[in-house]
Amino acid sequence: MRTAQSRRLYPPSWSYPAFILWLECGYAVALRLTTGLPWTTSTWQAAICLAAIGPLLLAVMNVVAGPKVLGRLPAAAFHVLRHVGGLGEFAIPWLGWAALIRIMNAGDLRWIAAFRSAGAIAVFSYLTGAALLLRFRPTAADVEVTEVTIDLPNLPRSFDGYRILHISDIHCRTLLPAQRVAERLLPAGSLHPDLIVFTGDLSDESPLRLETAAEALSALTAPDGIVAVMGNHDIWSGEARFVKAMAHHGIKLLVNDHLTLSRDGAQLHIAGVNDASYTEKADLAAALNGVPDGSKVILLSHAPAIMRDPLAQRASLVLSGHTHGGQVVLPGIGPIYVPSRLGRRYSSGLFRIGQTQLFITRGLGEVVPPLRINCPPEMAVLTLRAGGEVCAPSFINSRMHPSASAATPKGVPPKVR
Ligand SMILES: [Fe+2]
Repeated sequence: MRTAQSRRLYPPSWSYPAFILWLECGYAVALRLTTGLPWTTSTWQAAICLAAIGPLLLAVMNVVAGPKVLGRLPAAAFHVLRHVGGLGEFAIPWLGWAALIRIMNAGDLRWIAAFRSAGAIAVFSYLTGAALLLRFRPTAADVEVTEVTIDLPNLPRSFDGYRILHISDIHCRTLLPAQRVAERLLPAGSLHPDLIVFTGDLSDESPLRLETAAEALSALTAPDGIVAVMGNHDIWSGEARFVKAMAHHGIKLLVNDHLTLSRDGAQLHIAGVNDASYTEKADLAAALNGVPDGSKVILLSHAPAIMRDPLAQRASLVLSGHTHGGQVVLPGIGPIYVPSRLGRRYSSGLFRIGQTQLFITRGLGEVVPPLRINCPPEMAVLTLRAGGEVCAPSFINSRMHPSASAATPKGVPPKVR
C-alpha cells in the first residue's frame, strides 16, 4: 500500500484532549460573558456537559444508522430523515444547549438568556469547526493509492493478474470543483489498470457539477474502459441526467445490469446494481439475469448494504463505496459516524462475508464537511489472483472500526445461491 505524501490529515494524539479542553474553556467563557453568572464550579460543569452534547448526538446517530434500526426502515423514512436531518444538525444542538444551560442554572437564569447563551456557544462551535475545516481539508497530495491482491478461487487463468482501478464517491461540488477532482485523479495515470470501475456519487449540488466531473473521470483510460454504477447522490441529482452524462462521456453505466469480459475464450461478468442505500433502487436479480451458473461475477454496488441480499453471495467479489471510511476516525474509537445499514464496523477495507469478499473504498471526495481526519481520500488498485484459499481476507484496513479485526464478520446472510 502506498502511503500519502502529506501527513497533515494525521494529527498528533495529544491534539484530541487539547481539542476537548479548548471546547470546554470556550464554552465556559461564552457562558460567563453571556449570562453574567459568577465563575463557579457549576459554570465549568455546565461547559463540560455542553461539550458532551456533540459526541452524544454522534453516538445516537451511529445507533440509528446501524443495521438493527436503520436496516428495518422503509425508503420513505429515509427521505424524511434526509430532509429533517439537515435542519436538525443546527437546531438540535442549539435547543439542547439552551435547555442544559437553563436546567443547570434554573434559579438564576431566564429562558431568553439561556437561548442567547446557547447562540454564543453555537457561534464559538462553528468558528472552531471552520478552523478544523481549514486544517483538515484534504488536498491532492493526501490521496492514497491502496494496492490489494485478492485471491479468487476458480478465476479463469486468463484473468490471473487482472488489475481493476476502483474509484468512488468523488462528490464534485463547490468545495471540490472539477479541477481539484482532476488533481486528485492524477495518480491514476501511472497505475495502468485493465479496467476502471466507479461505484457512484460523482457530484453533489444537483446537476451543476455533473458534466465537468464526468469529463474529469472519463479522461482516465484502461483497455476495458470505465464501468460505473449510480450512488444515492447521483439519483438525488437527477437519474436521467446522470445516465445521459455517462453516455455522453463514454462511461458504461450498469443500472441493474451486467456486462461480460472475454479473454482467451474465458469470461468474467461485471454486474452493477443501482443504489442500495437511501433510494433502495437496487435489483440484484435483474443485474444477474442471464449470467450463466458457475461463472465468475464481480458485483459493483455503491452501498455495501447490498450484502444484506442473499443473492450477493452469487458474486465472488463485491466492490462498494458510500461510507467514505467514516471521514473522521479517532484512535481507539474508529470512525465516529458511518452512514451504512451494514453497520459501522464495515467502514472500509476488505472483508469476507459468507462465501464472497467485499471491498469498500474510502472514496476520493468528501460528503457534508469537507474534512478528513486519519482517513485520507483513496483510490484502490485490486489485482485478481486465480486460486488461493476460499475467500481468505488478504488485507484488512487499519483505519476501520477496532471491532472489525475479526477475519469473518457475522450477522450477514451466509446463504449461497
Ligand atoms: Fe453515497
